[in-house]
Amino acid sequence: MSAEREPIGVIGTGYVGLVTAAGFAEVGNDVWCIDIDADKIGRLEAGEIPIWEPGLKELVAANRERLHFSTDIGDALAHARLLFVAVGTPPTYSGDADLSAVYSVVDAMPASDDHALVMKSTVPCGTGAHIQRRFAETGKAGFCYVSCPEFLKEGSAVADFLDPDRVVVGDDGDWAGQAVVDLYAPLDAPLVRTDIRSAEMTKLASNAFLATKISFINEIANVCDETGADVVEVARGMGLDPRIGPKFLQAGIGFGGSCFPKDVTALKQMAGNTGYHFQLLNAVIEVNELQKRRVVQKLQKHLGPLTQKKIALLGLAFKPNTDDMREASSLVLSARLLADGAAISVYDPVAEEEARKLIPGVTFAESALAAVAGADAVVLVTEWSEFGELDFAAVAGAMDGRLVVDGRNFLDPVAVRGAGLLYEGIGRPSPRRVS
Ligand code: UDX
Repeated sequence: MSAEREPIGVIGTGYVGLVTAAGFAEVGNDVWCIDIDADKIGRLEAGEIPIWEPGLKELVAANRERLHFSTDIGDALAHARLLFVAVGTPPTYSGDADLSAVYSVVDAMPASDDHALVMKSTVPCGTGAHIQRRFAETGKAGFCYVSCPEFLKEGSAVADFLDPDRVVVGDDGDWAGQAVVDLYAPLDAPLVRTDIRSAEMTKLASNAFLATKISFINEIANVCDETGADVVEVARGMGLDPRIGPKFLQAGIGFGGSCFPKDVTALKQMAGNTGYHFQLLNAVIEVNELQKRRVVQKLQKHLGPLTQKKIALLGLAFKPNTDDMREASSLVLSARLLADGAAISVYDPVAEEEARKLIPGVTFAESALAAVAGADAVVLVTEWSEFGELDFAAVAGAMDGRLVVDGRNFLDPVAVRGAGLLYEGIGRPSPRRVS
């Protein structure tokens, strides 16, 4: 099969790049993976995976002979026509996307009539047109450009890549667009072939819509807190309407990660730069910021001033099944609690190494039970499955206080209350009926 599949290059070996590379290798392509970080390339060559992503290590190992790692873009250019770009586009202080890594790749390209850049990194709408102009101005007009946004989710990235909901290819109707379509053909996913700007916008709009859904249900949860309704029941009832759907209606302490906060801000900023004030997204962002702090109010409601109170945080990663700490709600929460004078112990089954770089002044515990020992209150921050299996009698025995704040509405309130603890969810004020 691999003899028929064309080799590709992938520039940037982060979450998106490495999963894309391993995924295409699995489908049968030879993949030249390029990164400027020599240490990372060395580790990858040695079979070490720099990120924690279920199934990725196995996928890389299984396709090791088709994966080639290098710090030299020339290696990818020599072997492949299609060069996927999967470098970071972090936010700048203004909220715009920082495209410097993208443009260093663009500027490293030679003049060629046989190559194409395939943009996987999330970029503002109009970036493709700008890159094409840059190619034209620098005598590289023959270099093709395709937008192919990536929709994979961390924690299920391998499965999402191999079984995508849709593949979006934005191009000018040239050989490169068709080559990308052919590349994805074995995955048998619904294809949206469109123009470059619409492809760029599809990615931004998708993430902004999902983030809006979360901020919406979080506001409903906040109203539930005041009215005595249970947001879990409300979301269950809402989600059965196929126009709404059950997904992304889990209220909690806000969305984080490398995509939603950055992409929502970038879309708002991009609209603003064109003179359009995207009112809805302002609210989505503000609700999310306030939501991260809601736990502090809940703690104060029960404990009074938090000075010298001992608070245990269970989970630190921005969501389960990843070690990614980018924009994690735990960062804001721990900083607020420390500023209020609380003593914090934390436990995360996977993200501790990343978290140690970002959260100073807290005690890292070896287990959930060690973290809750002597605590006045416990806050569930990330819904790792092991927290669903906690022995709450043991938790109650280890704690000094009784308060459990479930920041993800993940725990069983009956089990928590049954152990003599006080359960506080997000938008779940009334004791749940056992029916
Ligand atoms: C997201 C998009 O889902 C993906 O398509 C895109 O390519 C990248 O951004 P990811 O950042 O990996 O993926 O995480 P996702 O599972 O979407 O969750 C994002 C955040 O929203 C997490 O912090 C999660 O805890 C939160 N969330 C999600 C909620 O608070 N409630 C929900 O109902 C769903």
